[in-house]
Amino acid sequence: MKIPDFELERWKAKRVIPGVVDLTETGLPEPLRLRDIFSEDILDLRMDYASIYGNETLRQEIAELYSGKDKDNVLVTSSTSESNMIQTNLVVNNGDTVILQVPSFMQIPGLVEANGVRIVKYTTQPENNFEFDVEAFNECVTSKTRVFAFNFPNNPTGRVLSKEQVRAICEIAKDHDAWIIVDEVYRGIEFEGPFSPSFAEYYDKAVVAGSVSKIFGLAGLRVGWMVGPKDIIEKGSAYKEYTTLGGSVLSEELAARVLEKRMRQRLIERGRKLVAESFAVFDKWMDQNSDFLSYAKPKFGVIALVKHRLNTTSREFCTRLADERKIAVVPCDECFPDIQDGKHYLRMSYCHPPSLLRETLDKITETMEQYYQRVEA
Ligand SMILES: Cc1ncc(COP(=O)(O)O)c(C=O)c1O
Repeated sequence: MKIPDFELERWKAKRVIPGVVDLTETGLPEPLRLRDIFSEDILDLRMDYASIYGNETLRQEIAELYSGKDKDNVLVTSSTSESNMIQTNLVVNNGDTVILQVPSFMQIPGLVEANGVRIVKYTTQPENNFEFDVEAFNECVTSKTRVFAFNFPNNPTGRVLSKEQVRAICEIAKDHDAWIIVDEVYRGIEFEGPFSPSFAEYYDKAVVAGSVSKIFGLAGLRVGWMVGPKDIIEKGSAYKEYTTLGGSVLSEELAARVLEKRMRQRLIERGRKLVAESFAVFDKWMDQNSDFLSYAKPKFGVIALVKHRLNTTSREFCTRLADERKIAVVPCDECFPDIQDGKHYLRMSYCHPPSLLRETLDKITETMEQYYQRVEA
């Protein structure tokens, strides 16, 4: 399998180096520390292989995050990244027609492309604030479509889907007997209210990915999951025998403690509070710079897709920020090929505590001042 470069991650690998303030990463402003979830008794844990399906308690707790699912609908994976890999390779077959929703985090699209399929893109539009338009999407579906591939809540646009939209998309899939694969890693990191709808709750042929990396602030554990129909979970476990042959017993045990009902509730509240505080700083900065910056406010943390009117390209601006200011921001002309006019878009995260974030944004303003000659759109 030949995979294309994952431009976003390549950019991060080159720019996010020690000493750089990272506004490319999209976790909580304060990830948990090991001491927050550690207790002495874990020292007795046997460092054996983990079950290929994952820790049983953890599977049950993950199932509780989805209505109508039980532990046999869950495969524990090495984070969303492994789940995206497994679900895509299980469901997508060479020669299929696959609809990719873009702009999107480019892992599933890269894996789909590597499978030698016919790709049809459904692009959410800037003039519609990148909102999903079910009718326009439906026009992309044909009798040959076998798979829909999505990322919601969406990185980079900050959009989420309503229950009605998810239901309507599932109806379309059902009419075509198509699979739906979805990267749902940001589910839960909405600013308030219930978790956004999961496709797994609405359709038998949906396979979704999630993890403890975002709302739970535990990206370093590398624990995630795939949720879907039981036969796909079984096939996924067989696939996993070729990827990791099981996760880390230590990480899975820690994740099981974190996802225990009361603990997870506390952590969701903690995560949302942190995100809201940092977002308030970011939003104020956007307001102060509204002559040159605009955005459709994100509907979850910690991503913002920002349009700029500076007389430079995003790539040049971000290169300068990294070189001169030691600040890493994602230029969309380099990393999100499906954003039309990407040279005027930045994907910024605000996942730092308010004081560091404020200081960093002020430095960005100083660099922006060098490019204040307004360009015509
Ligand atoms: C949409 C999306 N999916 C997956 C990941 C990676 O998630 P994980 O840490 O669970 O592998 C990211 C990380 O930024 C992401 O933005």
